Formats: sequence, structure tokens, C-alpha cells
Amino acid sequence: MANRKMNASKTLVVLCGLLFSAHSMGQTVDIAAAEALAKKSNCSKCHSIDKKKDGPSFKETAAKYKGKTDAEAKLIKHITSGPTIKIDGIEEQHQMVKTKDEAEIKNLVRYILSR
Ligand code: HEC
Repeated sequence: MANRKMNASKTLVVLCGLLFSAHSMGQTVDIAAAEALAKKSNCSKCHSIDKKKDGPSFKETAAKYKGKTDAEAKLIKHITSGPTIKIDGIEEQHQMVKTKDEAEIKNLVRYILSR
């Protein structure tokens, strides 16, 4: 009995360590969730991972923001505030992401930045 408890708490310590290190490196991206949200929000209409459509590819955006510490904040703002953009010379409001959940938005931005 006592032995079992020890094992359980050891497992917990290891798990917490893993979660903490993954979190502090900012590299936990749920790819399936990010792609589902991009689809639901119509992002895929104008963006793809590696081909330019009306909007830049996610790879292009990831390269543009590489090494920039404010990348996450900038992109979160871009997809939540509906800035004015130009497509073929015509101004329109950029599509907003279809969720209010901050964790989901952050996950999508991290997904884009890690392409
Ligand atoms: C109607 C077409 C269209 C849709 C839909 C669209 N975008 Fe865009 N997006 C653009 C265009 C065009 C630009 C380039 C704007 C510019 O550089 O001024 C852009 C730029 C971006 C950028 C780069 C911003 C930067 O600062 O470099 C990101 C990231 C992005 N979009 C993500 C998304 C996401 C996420 C969605 C879905 C919520 C989405 N877009 C939906 C057309 C679209």
C-alpha cells in the first residue's frame, strides 16, 4: 500500500516536471486543434501552410516573425481585432478568429509561428 502511494507521487512529480518544461519553452502546440480552429474560422480560405493565397502562407509569417519576442502578441492582435487589410487593392477587414478562448487563440498563433 505504502509502496503504491510512493509510485503514484513519483509519477506525479515526473509529470509536473514534463508539463512545466514544455510550458516554459512555449512549445506545446495542439496541431489538430489549431487546424480545426483555422478551418472553422475560414482562415484556410486565404492562408495555407506553405502556399501563398490571398494572404501570406503560415511559413512566410513564421519566417517574418522568427526571433521576434513580440510575435505572439502581434499575431493575437491581428486575428482578434480585425485590422484593415488590402486584397487586390481593395480594403477589407481581416477575418477574426471564431473563438473567445484565449488558450485556443494562443495555440493557433503558436501553430502558425512554428510552421
Ligand atoms: C479574405 C482573406 C483572409 C482570411 C479569411 C484570413 N486572412 Fe489572414 N491575411 C489576409 C491577408 C491579405 C493578409 C496580409 C495583410 C497585410 O499584410 O497587410 C493576412 C495576414 C495574416 C497574417 C500575418 C499578419 C502579419 O502581421 O504578418 C496572419 C498570421 C493571418 N493573416 C492569420 C489569419 C488567420 C488565423 C485567419 C483566420 C482567423 C485569417 N488570417 C483569415 C487574408 C485573409
